[in-house]
Amino acid sequence: MKKYLLYEHGVQSPRWQTDYLPQFHTWLTRKTPYLFREDFCGTARIACEWVKQSTRHRALGLDLDPEPLRIARERNLSQLSSIEKARIVLKRQDVRSPTAEPFDMIGAFNFSCFTFLTRVDLLRYFRAVHASLKKPGTLFLEIAGGPGFIEPRHERRNFSVPGIGKVKQIWEQHQYDPITGINDYSIHFGLPDGSWLQDAFQYHWRIWGIPELRDALAEAGFRKSVVLWEQVDDRGKGTGELLPTENAELPESYVAYLVAVK
Ligand SMILES: C[S@@+](CC[C@H](N)C(=O)[O-])C[C@H]1O[C@@H](n2cnc3c(N)ncnc32)[C@H](O)[C@@H]1O
Repeated sequence: MKKYLLYEHGVQSPRWQTDYLPQFHTWLTRKTPYLFREDFCGTARIACEWVKQSTRHRALGLDLDPEPLRIARERNLSQLSSIEKARIVLKRQDVRSPTAEPFDMIGAFNFSCFTFLTRVDLLRYFRAVHASLKKPGTLFLEIAGGPGFIEPRHERRNFSVPGIGKVKQIWEQHQYDPITGINDYSIHFGLPDGSWLQDAFQYHWRIWGIPELRDALAEAGFRKSVVLWEQVDDRGKGTGELLPTENAELPESYVAYLVAVK
């Protein structure tokens, strides 16, 4: 299905996650992570990138939806060498159930923990992750927020996809409900042949705040959590560098990582 290819080019940058985030795992645990679980893995780009690092690197990708898992196998795992492929497993599984094998590092990217709309569900997920980690082990949550992330807007960008050409992407933010904390988001794509993929991806998310997430992580048994926050230059412009931070000014919008340590 074409929409997953467009999503991978428009939204993801898996090399960034596998190059940058393990450094924080090592800083927090004094260990190199080899066993990685990609939660909500979709087409498992990060898990695929993970196993390329060395013969000791292994990955498990979990997703509930069989469609992106099939595409992951057909398009992404098929591009790995046979020995790399032997080090990756994809499973159709709810991330709210623990896995038998303990992992060094578990990641939930692209705001996927916002899928859980109630605290009961969020805690169930965090407890299942805690039970699936070695000690020490880390959970990396990619999160977003700020007024600019919840107000209605359309963000347009163009990018090129090999074999398809110039693609237009629209990220649409719908109406935020301040009582439930829930907002809907859509991704639409315009193709070079003039066709339009309206609502190619749709999300119904509870926009959890950082203190709420940290409280829930502590309740689930994590011994500490660290916020990786984008640094700003002298003019207040984001530098792209994320560093452990305990206090910050509210930006218009932010993308950050919350790292929980078992
Ligand atoms: C926002 S997409 C993230 C895709 C990919 N991880 C990324 O970073 O771009 C969310 C994915 O989570 C999956 N998902 C939602 N609830 C889940 C659950 N409880 N357990 C496992 N996967 C789930 C969906 O099927 C979907 O593929």
